[in-house]
Amino acid sequence: MFSENVRCLVVVGAQWGDEGKGKLVDVLAEQADIVARYQGGANAGHTVRAGDDEFILHLVPSGILYPTVRCLLGNGVVVDPWALVGELDALEARGIDLDGRLGLARRAHLVLPYHKALDEAQESSRDSAKKIGTTGRGIGPTYRDKIARVGLRVGDLADMIRARDIVTAGTNAANEAIERMGGEARVDVDEVMTDLETVRDTLLSLATDTGGEIRSGLARGGRVLLEGAQGALLDIDHGTYPYVTSSTTTAGGAGAGVGVGPTVIDGVLGVVKAYTTRVGNGPLPTELAGDEAETLRNLGGEFGATTGRPRRPGWFDANVVRYAAGVNGLTALAVTKLDVLDSFAELRLATAYELDGRVVSTFPDSIHELERVQPVYADQPGWMCETTGCRTWEELPGEARAYLRGLEKEVGVPIRYIGVGAARRETIRLADEGIAGAEAA
Ligand code: GDP
Ligand code: IMO
Ligand code: MG
Repeated sequence: MFSENVRCLVVVGAQWGDEGKGKLVDVLAEQADIVARYQGGANAGHTVRAGDDEFILHLVPSGILYPTVRCLLGNGVVVDPWALVGELDALEARGIDLDGRLGLARRAHLVLPYHKALDEAQESSRDSAKKIGTTGRGIGPTYRDKIARVGLRVGDLADMIRARDIVTAGTNAANEAIERMGGEARVDVDEVMTDLETVRDTLLSLATDTGGEIRSGLARGGRVLLEGAQGALLDIDHGTYPYVTSSTTTAGGAGAGVGVGPTVIDGVLGVVKAYTTRVGNGPLPTELAGDEAETLRNLGGEFGATTGRPRRPGWFDANVVRYAAGVNGLTALAVTKLDVLDSFAELRLATAYELDGRVVSTFPDSIHELERVQPVYADQPGWMCETTGCRTWEELPGEARAYLRGLEKEVGVPIRYIGVGAARRETIRLADEGIAGAEAA
């Protein structure tokens, strides 16, 4: 996707997360100089496979396996300092050289123990029907403090007296809130400060101006990937609110989340599975039940990379991805996990919804409407053979090509990548025009 004129690309999830962003970013990072995360935190779980080695990255950008790539965590990311240090230690223990490889925005907010305690207390205090099913990583409470202008940022660690004031106010407010919710956990300011001392030097040594680094990288002719976490339907504004995460996951958040303007972005790659999954609560119109769900979950290994929870599987929903294409301004699509559908005799693809007796092809902004929609399906024959060995469009079985042709037509964005396995090489690449280009060639 990089070219003479395309040097800054955003990679986003265009469903409910876990689309395979990590793999795509890793594949594209071979040609990149900088890979930067712009939002989310350790709620993300991005799986990258290099040879026989599998890495699950939560905070560290998925470019880390290429020794010449500089990886950045932008100001829009919420950083759990201990999770970050743990992840860096684990990578080093597995032989990844991190020297000078990682930068952390001074303006990034820190996830502190009281944010995690609040996240857990809030979830436990909700009735089961109202639980969001968060990852428990303190994401919502940290973004709330950021917006309320009472958060602690990486740069604040330079002055531990001021940091202590912020932590004290945050801890007191959290302990009171947890008590009101009937929770038992209490956080101790001294413990937080002592623990912060153990990570302070590392964090300050990584601190940088991420926007400045990206702008100079581009000015030198470099190539930059902005790696999204979660997916469009989990976006705080555009997702299935309130069953969402607390950040702007869509491409519009990318510039703001690293410190560059939208004019530097040349393209947006939306990653989708050839079907759909969701982990956590909230509506999922094409959700499968019973044996079919179990089969798809097992074939796709659909268990959360962060929490290990079983993911809820469903058929591909073009309404969702068409909507995600619009709110992200997608310029290209990567369809992953096609191989997972290899053994299905029949496949279904939702092309529209029926809502209160009317057929609609737009995505409802009301969660109550979304809970009532019935998908309108186009049924398609499966291909019933292995696709993992396919490396070109022509090598794919006819039914798989027809399925992808239908998917691309419904979404209206050219497919540039097709995943037929988790490994880097198990990726089919198409030219700019997507399937039309491949079929004309
Ligand atoms: P992310 O959060 O979007 O990075 O996605 P996850 O890493 O949470 O989940 C995607 C899973 O699918 C990972 O286990 C990947 O290794 C795997 N994966 C990615 N692409 C493909 C593919 O084309 N085929 C198969 N079989 N697995 C894939
Ligand atoms: P990646 O980057 C899938 C979901 C949680 C929950 C909701 C809110 O791997 O695609 P949070 O802890 O963020 O407050 O939880 O969002 N969620 C994800 N689902 N993939 C993710 O990340 C997710 N990060 C959060 O399950 O429903
Ligand atoms: Mg994931």
